[in-house]
Amino acid sequence: MAFPKTALLAAALAVIPSVYSYWIFGGTPPVVTTRLDSIVSPGQVGTHVHAVAGGSRFQATYDFDDLSKSQCSTIPVQPDKSNYWAPQLYYNDPDAGTFTPIPTSFNIYYLMRPGPKNEKIHAFPTGLRMLAGDPNRRVNNASSFADQALTYVCLDFNQDHSGDPDWEERPDFFPHQCPDAMRAQVFFPSCWDGKNLDSPDHKSHMAYPIQNFNSGDCPDTHPVHLVSLFFEMFVSVDQFPYAPGRWVYSFGDNGGLGIHGDFQDGWTDKSILQSAIDDCNDVQGNAQDCPILKANMNQAAASACKPEMNIVNEAVGFTGPLEELPGCNLLWTGTGPKPTCNPMPPTPSFVSPKTPLPSGWHELGCIAEGTKGRAFTSASTTNDAMTKAVCANFCSGLGFPYAGVEFGRECYCGNGFSNGAVNTTVTWSDCSNTCSGNRNENCGGPDRLTLLYNPTLH
Ligand SMILES: *[C@@H]1O[C@H](CO)[C@@H](O)[C@H](O)[C@H]1NC(C)=O
Ligand SMILES: *[C@@H]1O[C@H](CO)[C@@H](O)[C@H](O)[C@H]1NC(C)=O
Repeated sequence: MAFPKTALLAAALAVIPSVYSYWIFGGTPPVVTTRLDSIVSPGQVGTHVHAVAGGSRFQATYDFDDLSKSQCSTIPVQPDKSNYWAPQLYYNDPDAGTFTPIPTSFNIYYLMRPGPKNEKIHAFPTGLRMLAGDPNRRVNNASSFADQALTYVCLDFNQDHSGDPDWEERPDFFPHQCPDAMRAQVFFPSCWDGKNLDSPDHKSHMAYPIQNFNSGDCPDTHPVHLVSLFFEMFVSVDQFPYAPGRWVYSFGDNGGLGIHGDFQDGWTDKSILQSAIDDCNDVQGNAQDCPILKANMNQAAASACKPEMNIVNEAVGFTGPLEELPGCNLLWTGTGPKPTCNPMPPTPSFVSPKTPLPSGWHELGCIAEGTKGRAFTSASTTNDAMTKAVCANFCSGLGFPYAGVEFGRECYCGNGFSNGAVNTTVTWSDCSNTCSGNRNENCGGPDRLTLLYNPTLH
């Protein structure tokens, strides 16, 4: 999912000497997609839906200590429990008027970008928060570093359109389809004031370097040069028919200038990040080439990672197209003010990302299937709306104390363990299959059951 060698990326990073090292956490999926923003709207339902990558304890309000307790991160290097987020992009169907979320992943770049003074590059200070971009931006200022840091790339692997200005990297959406998806790109400021982990506008404690938005020496006001953070939000616009103005951010913007990115530091061990910065001088994109990063990778945990904390109790489009974008987010075209809602939509409550188990049932963990056949043989069902709760209810109704979900959509019941299966849990991340009925929880895995038990039925 990372394309460091393409001509398009080379154009994006053309001002940077290639000798500087960088690595990419490529193809990182969101851990959750919900209407929360712990930086801009702490403690509240946010103004618009975000796709959030990284640590599993993302929530309405938290601090570094809370985030660092995340069970997992969608980033393979598990000590990076940071959260990285951006507005969810939707496809607005021109006939039905509905909104469907466009599949999204992130390529997260860490770049060593000192200027002519060759300043030392530092790991993020613990708990740093920052914002780049602004959902209210309606005009591009080509001479502003903050605006230059926000770009779009149209992926066209055949390169049929090289030299055509309509296909070049640009500050807003393209006036045509992107045959191999689109990237929305956010380059964060890398110079820190050395004092504040956040600021009222979530920006002024940070600054872009003197010479360029993506490299250079830090100004005296913000003298601490941090590792540069850049992410590409990879959106599969190619999976939907193209029509002008039909790519719409969760806040209603169908032009693209309102792209923004948020970062909340959650690196649990800064010595790992600092060692990677200091010692992995030859790495050109592949994080596996940096020994300390490689040693801390756990792809199984990253792939199995699901949100732990409350989300907003509303559909965001994954179970069917939405009639309206969540929150007060009417289509917002052109350069005029954001349309307002009358009446305002009601504010939903918070809810657990997992479907609650019926009374008496407990989750005991991930177990292996039987060696000679199925662990539970008394009853089974399979469907596209499977959750742990659905399975527990099914087995409860038949009077069985054990229930196990497997492969995301299968449910098995029993009075005890059969075929050599035992009541011993295996690594949690073996149960890595998303439940067919809830994308925020796992229902077993290949040859693995998430085990549910109700002692009152025993
Ligand atoms: C555009 O950005 C430049 C550089 O930051 C700034 O000096 C200028 O005032 C900006 N122009 C507008 C219209 O905001
Ligand atoms: C299975 O193991 C769990 C966790 O150790 C325990 O709570 C439960 O009682 C066990 N069930 C049986 C039937 O042994």
